[in-house]
Parts: sequence; structure tokens; C-alpha cells
Amino acid sequence: MDTAHRSFPILVALFVLLFGVTSSQPYEEFLQCLEFHDSNITSIVYTRANSSFSSLLESSIRNPRFDTSATPKPLLIFTPRQISHIQSAIRCSRAHRIQIRVRSGGHDYEGLSYSTNHNSSFLILDLISFRNISIDLAQQTAWIQPAVTTGELYYRIAEKSSTLAFPSGICPTVGLGGQISGGGWGTLLRKYGLAADNVLDTRVIDAEGRILDRASMGEDMFWAIRGGGGNTFGIVIAWKIKLVPVPASVTACTVTRTLEQNATEIVHRWQYVVDKLSNDVFFMVVLNRVVNPIQANATTIQASFNSLYLGSIEGLILMMEAKFPDLGLRRENCVEMSWAKSILYFAGFPLNSPLESLLDRTISATGSAKFKGKSDYVKEPIPISGFEGIWEKLKEVGVQTGGLILASYGGKMSEIPESSIPFPHRAGNIYQVEEVAFWVEDGVEAADGYLNWLRGLYEYMTPYVSKNPREAYANYRDLDIGRNGGGGEGDYRRARSWGSSYYKNNFDRLVRVKTAVDPANFFRNEQSIPPLSSWR
Ligand code: FDA
Repeated sequence: MDTAHRSFPILVALFVLLFGVTSSQPYEEFLQCLEFHDSNITSIVYTRANSSFSSLLESSIRNPRFDTSATPKPLLIFTPRQISHIQSAIRCSRAHRIQIRVRSGGHDYEGLSYSTNHNSSFLILDLISFRNISIDLAQQTAWIQPAVTTGELYYRIAEKSSTLAFPSGICPTVGLGGQISGGGWGTLLRKYGLAADNVLDTRVIDAEGRILDRASMGEDMFWAIRGGGGNTFGIVIAWKIKLVPVPASVTACTVTRTLEQNATEIVHRWQYVVDKLSNDVFFMVVLNRVVNPIQANATTIQASFNSLYLGSIEGLILMMEAKFPDLGLRRENCVEMSWAKSILYFAGFPLNSPLESLLDRTISATGSAKFKGKSDYVKEPIPISGFEGIWEKLKEVGVQTGGLILASYGGKMSEIPESSIPFPHRAGNIYQVEEVAFWVEDGVEAADGYLNWLRGLYEYMTPYVSKNPREAYANYRDLDIGRNGGGGEGDYRRARSWGSSYYKNNFDRLVRVKTAVDPANFFRNEQSIPPLSSWR
């Protein structure tokens, strides 16, 4: 921060605050306003002139696709250390019409927590200092701050108890500020539902800068923030979550099958059993193109069946022999471990990795690869011919640069009503699909090639997935399915196209809540819920 900002006289700041005098830099008035609220605050504001600006910006960019010279950059990054700093930032950015992008873990698929798709001035409110976890073993609850990652939470729970867990996502570096705001599924979803299903209370700062909890915000807003999308209703500064019981030892297994090993028939069959298995079993299948293990210089399609069972190896094998013998699950495919360790297993860490790996925020699940994801829900099994077409699509891209991830539904997910929280994808879904492309090449041409491939795969999937609406998972943000207008201004009719994909019939209730709690649409981005006043 340059010294001119720090020494700006309070009286001038007050004048600027009251009369809105313009200055050369669009953010100067904002800075003066901040300083007016707290004279020490500017030491945690980073303008583009600050030598730490770029490293701070990049520190939580989890999709290198949005880390190029062409990506719109914030005017400044603000790293609040206490709640009053966030309140000041809200009040000052309102007064000076600078958009806020809130960042917790930085995993937004379209980079919306640190960038925009339009030319509006914006600042990043980076919550990186809000990482406290407080666990109450007796009550089996915890208070967590938004920049806590799933890995940090799982590690801290495991430190205190080997038989408690939390049903959030698989990747350990994802922030719980964003993840719970959009749902949060992981290996416990068939047993306990989503992370957002297991939130008991919260602390949110609203567009007026007030701190609200469940009682003071009311049940409508409390409903909306549990899955209705981040950066929309307020800034979550803490979640109170319910911890869930797990056995001290669980079983994780991997079986891989290539086309030459009957993968097509096994995946096809998998669809008929997977949502009806005991709630203690979760299955994820990764479909992609790999080097052929039995034929030199050739590639093939591989299906990798990864399962988690809340019990022993013997128990799972007995169940699979009875319900899904086609998989051919054997003891050597499985390992028993703690539930916390099973997260490392699912996230692809080597078996001997220390549990402390869960604490590493810097590792990237995608390495240096740029990516784009899309999502779907499957309600009727895809026929064999459908999978054969998927294999042809996968053959159009390189080894492990594109794929599909299928995650089993059913169990608890089918028992929770669609309107319980904004996330509506419940009974009737056999599994969720994520279509994804990864690439390391730089440049627009390479990116366009992968994006076009992914869009082609998505188009191909149309007859096999949910319809009217074609459902999608809000946390796998996909701007292809629609976006708000320039500047992030919402429009109910326009937003309904992507809004009904993410939220189905819950979309209208989300609009009503937004209209009540943030009618001026202060919290907004390209896919935030619009207030009704924006109807044009
Ligand atoms: P980020 O900080 O980018 O925030 C995402 C959105 O929420 C932005 O709009 C942001 O402004 C807003 N936001 C952030 N903090 C907020 C706060 N405190 N208050 C209000 N709004 C806030 N999902 C899943 O369900 N299961 C999984 O296993 C995975 N795995 C996974 C792996 C990888 C590698 C990636 C990149 C993503 C996932 N996801 C996932 C998706 C993930 O849940 C989703 O991207 C979350 O929104 C990321 O939350 P972050 O806080 O990390 O992101």
C-alpha cells in the first residue's frame, strides 16, 4: 500500500464519503472510505501497484484457464482479518459502486470468485484469514470459517475422533465457503446427503453490512444460502455443521476395466444396481482414454470403479458377489483405512501419504492443467450403444485430457425432498455425471479445441440425461448454460434458463428470497440469482 493512502486526512475522506468527489483512480474513493472506517485497514488492501498483488491473486486461482494476461483483473484485493473489515468493505463498495467478488477456496469452475466475464470494476474480498475450526465433540457439531478447506476440516475432525466425519467433497483443497453455498457432495452422500443438508446454523453478513444468524435472518434466507449459490445472498463468515458417525475403519476399492476387459457391459450393468445398494456404499466411475496396458503404442477406453464402503472388505465383497458380480471385485482391489485417509485415496494420493497431506492447500487436483466441466443427471440407464458413442467421443481427445465422472445417487439423496434446500437433484436420479476437459497447452486456439470437444460430448449426451429442464449441479458452474447480463445484472426471465437447471422448482423461491434480502442486487455475478426488481 503506498503511503499516500495511509496518510489521507480523515476530513477529506469524510468529505469524499459524503459528497462523492471523483478522483483519478476508481478505487481511491473506496480506499478513502475504508480508511474512514478504520485507519489501519489499508495495510490489508493490495492495489495493482503492490508487489504482492499478482502472487496474492494467483494464490487461490484453482483453474489456470483464468490466469492469463487476458483475464480481467480486480482493481484491488482486500484480505479482511476481522468481521468489521468485511462490513466496511461492503459499505464502501456499495457507496462507490465497486462490485465485490468473494473468494474462499478459489475453486469456482468459471473463475467468478476472482474474475469477471465483463468489464465492470471489481475487487476481490479474499477470506483467506477466516480459517478457524471449532469442534464440539459432545454435541458432534463444529463451527467452521469459510476459507477452511474440506481437507483441513477432515484432518481436524480426525485429530479428535476416528468415528466422526462430515459429508462434503472429495478434493481436499476446496473451500467450504463456496462448496456448502452450492451443495457439496462427496463419498458420504448416499449415507448422509450433502454438506449443505448438514448445516445447523450460520453467520452471514448481508448487503447492509449486518451480521445475521439463523434466527435473525429467518428460515427463508437460511434455506437459500444452503445451496442457492455463493456471492448471492450475503457473505458467509461461519457455518455450524453437524458431524456424522462413520466406522473407525472403512473400505476403499478400485477396479479398472478396459474395453478389452468388458468395460462397456460392466458400466452398463453398474447403472442397474448402483442406486439400490445399501446406503453404506458409494461408487464413482471415471471413464477416460488411457494407454492400453496390454498393447504397446495403443490406447483404449478405461472405466475405473472406485468405491467406498462403511464396513469391512469382507462385507463389501459379499455384497458385491450378491448384487454386482459382473464387477469381479476381489480382496486385493481393496484397502481398509480411516475415513479421513479414504479422502486421500479418492483424491488420488499414494496409499502411504501422511494424513497431513489433507492440510496442504497448495496442491492442485488438476496440476497445472486448465479445465472446464459440465454436469448432467441420469435417470434411465444409458444403453450399450450410448456408451459406444461415448467411447468414440473419448477417442477424439488425447490420453486423459477428457473424461466423464459418474457418481452414484440413491440412498439418503432419494429420501430428502427436492425443496428441502435449493439443491433439487434427489429421488429418481441414478447418478450424476461430470463431463470434463483438461489441457496444458496455452493459447486461445488450444482452449477452443478442448472446449468445442467438451461441448460436442455434452451435445452427444442429450438423449441420455435429464430433460425439461436439463439439470446441472450449481457447484460445477457452467456459463454455457446461461448467464446474467453485462455487469452481472440479473434478469429473471433470462436467469430462469440456467436457474431451473441448477435449482428446478426452487428457482422461484430463491428469486423471492433474493428480492427480499438484496433487492438492489449488491451481491452478484454472472450466475447469481437476480431480484425481481431487475425484471425488464
Ligand atoms: P471460490 O472461492 O471460488 O467460491 C465459489 C463461489 O462461491 C464464488 O461465486 C464465490 O464468490 C462464492 N463464495 C466463496 N466464498 C463465499 C462466502 N464465504 N460467502 C458467500 N459466497 C462465497 N464439489 C463437490 O460438491 N464435491 C467435490 O468433490 C468437488 N471437487 C472439486 C474438485 C476441484 C479440483 C474443483 C476445482 C472443484 C470441486 N468441486 C467439488 C466444486 C466446488 O465445490 C465448487 O467449485 C465450490 O464453489 C468451490 O468453493 P471455493 O470456496 O473453493 O471456491
